[in-house]
Amino acid sequence: MSVGGAASPMNDEVVSSQGATSRLVLGIETSCDETAAAVVEAGRIVHSNVIASQATLHAPYGGVFPEVASRQHVRDIVPVIQEALRDAGADWPDLAGIAVTSGPGLAGALLVGANAAKGLAMATGLPLVAVNHLEGHLASNALHSGGAIITPETAGEGLPVLPYPHLALIVSGGHTDLVWVDAADRHQRLGGTRDDAAGEAFDKAARMLGLGYPGGPLVERAATGGRSDAFAFTVPRGLGLDFSFSGLKTALLRHVEAHGEGELPVADLAASFQAAVVRALVERCAAALEGRDARAIAVAGGVAANGTLRTALAARFPELPLWVPPAVLCTDNAAMIAAAGWHRLARGEDDGLAFDVGSSMGL
Ligand code: KG4
Ligand code: ZN
Repeated sequence: MSVGGAASPMNDEVVSSQGATSRLVLGIETSCDETAAAVVEAGRIVHSNVIASQATLHAPYGGVFPEVASRQHVRDIVPVIQEALRDAGADWPDLAGIAVTSGPGLAGALLVGANAAKGLAMATGLPLVAVNHLEGHLASNALHSGGAIITPETAGEGLPVLPYPHLALIVSGGHTDLVWVDAADRHQRLGGTRDDAAGEAFDKAARMLGLGYPGGPLVERAATGGRSDAFAFTVPRGLGLDFSFSGLKTALLRHVEAHGEGELPVADLAASFQAAVVRALVERCAAALEGRDARAIAVAGGVAANGTLRTALAARFPELPLWVPPAVLCTDNAAMIAAAGWHRLARGEDDGLAFDVGSSMGL
């Protein structure tokens, strides 16, 4: 198949084992409860993006059950990769390489994707790069323009591209990080959470309010119609560019316990709690932007899907373009892993077969 059509810069192609040049990367992601594979061109153009979510499988446990996640990844990984290649109309010789998440995440889950990727690299001779899941989330904003996923059909239309340098806020179920991003493959972590992640705070709040799992979207929905000033939640100060959400969780628990059964003001509590989390995130962004000449703010991770957060950021920083991926690229996906891996593959890097997974690897 043809890969891209448009002429690409000299160093922007990878010579495949068959001697052909390619800019297509197969991404594989299994760090948590999504089995995902995608084919992405040059870190930007999404040819396919397949995600098998395990959310309903874990819902009865109120969180991700690691053993269940690993077993389901084993069942789904091969069909998901096959579907990603089929959707892209690509075959192995068309690829420049493979990129797989090596951490952070659940060790057993990560191993399924990493071992599948190693097996494929061995069988095909393709180079393989191990990608940090958080760098994947950073790359997710390069895959869309104004919230619309860049596809082979739209790629040539001169769409606005993600500007650098920018301030990135990664807010997911496992992570909350503020990152200064100079270039697609150059960044510096400015701060992060000292305890719970923002998404984790939403998930725990949902459990306390009896809303179910995953909590973020349910809290957001429950907050509609609630008053965000009904309950006072104090956002901790004096942490520099770090966050802390465990105090908010304890405060919510106290409010919940103060009410009798059946008379919990769920909408007001959800709205007030959500407002406090959003306030904490927006305040830290403001502090991080002081003295830095950012061209944009980019939000990534599952919590980026939160409408209240988007509205608050847009209102607080009206002069800065706000980049937020479409929902399917906010939560875990393999397109972002392929995008993050592209820059290293284009430089000729290959991590080979000996790399390990790292459950608690940072940025
Ligand atoms: O990035 P992600 O899919 O997985 C991790 O890498 O952790 O993020 C999942 C997290 C969950 O905690 C979920 O509750 C949260 O993102 N989330 C939301 C919303 N949608 C998902 N939090 C707040 N508002 C939402 N609309
Ligand atoms: Zn994630």
